[in-house]
Amino acid sequence: MTKSRAAFTSHSPDETAQLARRVGAQLGAGDTLLLEGGIGAGKSHFARALILSRLAEAEDVPSPTFTLVQTYDLPDCELWHADLYRLGDPDQIVELGLLDAFQAAICLIEWPDRLAELTPETALTVRFDDMLQNDTRQIEFTWTAPHWTSCVKEALA
Ligand SMILES: Nc1ncnc2c1ncn2[C@@H]1O[C@H](COP(=O)(O)OP(=O)(O)O)[C@@H](O)[C@H]1O
Ligand SMILES: [Mg+2]
Repeated sequence: MTKSRAAFTSHSPDETAQLARRVGAQLGAGDTLLLEGGIGAGKSHFARALILSRLAEAEDVPSPTFTLVQTYDLPDCELWHADLYRLGDPDQIVELGLLDAFQAAICLIEWPDRLAELTPETALTVRFDDMLQNDTRQIEFTWTAPHWTSCVKEALA
């Protein structure tokens, strides 16, 4: 399968949040975003802005750092936000219910390398790189599933 790619340069947390809302507006059940990048790159900032923009009513958006997952009831489906940094045993991926969530929910996954062979092939990868010592972030989208092409195009328009 051919891999598609698009990149965006964010100059501030606000720009990243705006991009997250534009991507988030287009997500539905069965869509997974793999949020890659080092500590402090902006994965959680992106996830939080996206989640806040999809909630019907204001609600806390706590970090899943220790709980591994936080789930939200959106009007039309669930949204799962996972941070797998502290995942101990790969069996936990199944125990947490993540494989079912990949099918039925919108999933935002930080540290998706922990999924190894359980990584959903149809996911959109969003890679954050903080190359400089300031607020600039390079955000790169890669995907093979064709339906992401229009989503990314819309988000970057
Ligand atoms: N352009 C930017 N996009 C996203 N976050 C940024 C940007 N510039 C600075 N930041 C800051 O970088 C930090 C990113 O933290 P966080 O999202 O928790 O990182 P991660 O989840 O990748 O470890 C936040 O404090 C955020 O305000
Ligand atoms: Mg994080």
